[in-house]
Amino acid sequence: MERFLFVLGSNFRMSIAELDNYLKHSQNKGKIIDYSANIAIVEFEKLRQDKQYINKLMKIQFVLGGCQKIAEIYDFIDIKTIQEAFPLHISKFKSVEKSRDKVIRILDNLIIGKDGIFPKIYESMFFAVSIYPNLYDEKYYSDVLIKHLLPFLNKEIMEILKRKGAIKVLYYQYPEKNIKLGNLNPIFPHHIIKYELLKENRAEIIFGFTEEGVYIARTFTTDDPNFKRKIDEERPFKEYKSAISPKLAKIMLNFLNLFMNRETKKILDPFIGNGTIGLFAILHDFQIYGVDIDAKKVKNTLRNIYWLIELLEEELPPLLDKKVLNYDARNLSNVFEPFFFDGICTEPDLGPFYKKKPYYTQVKELIEMKLEPLYDKFFREAYQILKPKCRLCFISPIINTIDGNDIHVNIEKLAIKNNFIVVPLIDLTRINNKSNQKLKFRKKYVKTLIDAKKGQITKRILYVLEKK
Ligand SMILES: C[S@@+](CC[C@H](N)C(=O)[O-])C[C@H]1O[C@@H](n2cnc3c(N)ncnc32)[C@H](O)[C@@H]1O
Repeated sequence: MERFLFVLGSNFRMSIAELDNYLKHSQNKGKIIDYSANIAIVEFEKLRQDKQYINKLMKIQFVLGGCQKIAEIYDFIDIKTIQEAFPLHISKFKSVEKSRDKVIRILDNLIIGKDGIFPKIYESMFFAVSIYPNLYDEKYYSDVLIKHLLPFLNKEIMEILKRKGAIKVLYYQYPEKNIKLGNLNPIFPHHIIKYELLKENRAEIIFGFTEEGVYIARTFTTDDPNFKRKIDEERPFKEYKSAISPKLAKIMLNFLNLFMNRETKKILDPFIGNGTIGLFAILHDFQIYGVDIDAKKVKNTLRNIYWLIELLEEELPPLLDKKVLNYDARNLSNVFEPFFFDGICTEPDLGPFYKKKPYYTQVKELIEMKLEPLYDKFFREAYQILKPKCRLCFISPIINTIDGNDIHVNIEKLAIKNNFIVVPLIDLTRINNKSNQKLKFRKKYVKTLIDAKKGQITKRILYVLEKK
């Protein structure tokens, strides 16, 4: 089968948008055929035909910002069967037993075998069951999947392995306290590394739920959160209140649609700050250029880049101090040739960092007097220095006020004025929408996505613009 299960990042809409765009435009073509708030099921056109497909999966994992793990799918049980075996309220014991036997038979066929989760039996084996529900806040997850399905799977898989010849079988035991409370998180990527679950005789077995049923899969690659965190937190200069997350930086870079020969692609961050986007661009092989109006920020970014290059044990990009400049993003065409860049990726000035919600009139003034004119002039310049049909990935603020609603800048108007089109981030002609309101995409073409933490006053909206 060409089907793989992708465990999504915490912002599942953003993760799905990034993944769909990748599957549409990269060399690894495919489609999302099903999804929930935690997983996406991907059918590739021909990835599995390649003998080295696991290496390809590892590369895909490294490129994507919104993907925690990738697992290969071995089987699927429809939702009716699973709900008969594990109902919310048991009324007919006989039918429950019959349906559970059916699930055991399915497991029996897929745990061991040439095309099974474990290709052969080993003397000593270890497994971890991870259940990803359709939505974490469903009663079915807390009351049934954690309390009944998880122990059932642990017991049955252990028995199957022992019956087929394994001498010592252990499984990952989740904290009893979380099981009782019904608020369990499946094991994190760093556990996979710690428990060596990518080894042949050890495995993470994922049971990923959607509205349609449960996909049974084995994890083959996982995100390395420690490395991303190291870059984000240990670099010499960082300002927590104004920097975007590594995840979002990677997602933005991917929306530039530059998946091939990245080392030849020149990209610019014209509001580079302390350089989060720049650092992740270097990590992903791009040629990075940057500008900031604040000379101190330019120095900080350069120091951060030197630090990263040393960490990666790579050679310093040539003429770096001519590529990261103290300059104004409103005059970019004075320093860069027309049609010079393959992509622009940036988080500009988003206004002040508010500790308390501001007044509506205050924000209106900020937008009209400062942000709109700044973005307008920058778009005009960006148009000149970008190659034709190339993209500008842009973050704009949405600010929550005391006395009004959320206020945002009309980016679409500015984009059209400056000859850009707003590219939809999700195209529902490629993805089957869901009926559950919490999972549904409300429009056929989703043009913006929000990145925010709970209670954040200024949220970030992601836009992808394309030069006409
Ligand atoms: C929100 S911060 C960017 C933070 C950056 N993404 C990071 O991770 O560090 C915006 C940056 O835009 C810079 N800036 C503001 N106005 C500018 C202008 N007209 N031209 C260039 N840079 C400008 C500020 O100095 C600031 O460093």
